[in-house]
Amino acid sequence: SRALAFALAAPKAELHLHIEGSLEPELAFALAQRNGIALPYADIDALRAAYDFSDLQSFLDLYYACADVLRSEEDFRDLMLAYLARAAADGVVHTEIFFDPQTHLARGIAFATMFEGLAAGAAQAKAQFGISTKLILCFLRHLSEEDAFATLEAALPFIARIDGFGLDSSEKGHPPAKFERVFARCRDLGKPVVAHAGEEGPPAYIVEALDLLKVSRIDHGVRASEDAALMARLAAEGMPLTVCPLSNVRLCVFATMKDHTLPALLAAGLKVTINSDDPAYFGGYLGENIRAVQAAFEFDVDTWYTLLRNSLEASFASDAEKAGWI
Ligand code: ADE
Ligand code: ZN
Repeated sequence: SRALAFALAAPKAELHLHIEGSLEPELAFALAQRNGIALPYADIDALRAAYDFSDLQSFLDLYYACADVLRSEEDFRDLMLAYLARAAADGVVHTEIFFDPQTHLARGIAFATMFEGLAAGAAQAKAQFGISTKLILCFLRHLSEEDAFATLEAALPFIARIDGFGLDSSEKGHPPAKFERVFARCRDLGKPVVAHAGEEGPPAYIVEALDLLKVSRIDHGVRASEDAALMARLAAEGMPLTVCPLSNVRLCVFATMKDHTLPALLAAGLKVTINSDDPAYFGGYLGENIRAVQAAFEFDVDTWYTLLRNSLEASFASDAEKAGWI
């Protein structure tokens, strides 16, 4: 359809992408071989067959296990470059990428190894495809406040090249309040902050992310629809939501795409964006998310224009950069 063709071709930003979640099975096995380590799966098909998730935790267990193949600076560079090539092919002109240092620091990988590899991949992609990248350090919320502070300490030598901070991993039982002091320190460093909230957790976690962490965007936020006052507040504040449709269906937040709250969020006037979250694990990159949303909801060109313009506006790019895209 005309609307789908428009959505696929238009310039857009991706604002919710975990670089570790872009590790395709083919690359995972290639890196395992390069590093002389064994994955607990016989082959690529066996690994792909394990991508049958019942909830967020069942995914995270596999996601953290597969990240073990990432060892050298080159591994992180290859991972970044592979994602950015795919994103550029989907019309993504700018992306703000989450990385999880604690996953790697805990395995004895130096912060510099991981970070310089990611940065090298981003620089190469900028030169090759013209795509721009910002890097957002995510704290793992199932770990302690103390561990988050130690991670922030390890990141300080690189702080000029870190563009923001986020909060991810197991949401239930780990409310934003647990990281109020860490996020205050991140904001004192002059960085914007974001947090996953209202993916599996209740709308109250979205309120905490706003009031206690003072986030500039909510990642997911799809359970906001359960709280009318919160919906009104998000709309009034123009608070961006980075919604990840295929992720939500694959992690059983919604039974099918038609059950997704995306149309309700849009109808309430929220500043919604579409993103791929962990595309290697959830059935596709941004283009596939757009196709799946369109198959379920048949949005018109105006709706897609709004969604994609939202993604550029809600980015942390400068006003000058935005003016070049919008
Ligand atoms: N880490 C990677 N993907 C995630 C998600 N969808 N929710 C929470 N933590 C994550
Ligand atoms: Zn996410």
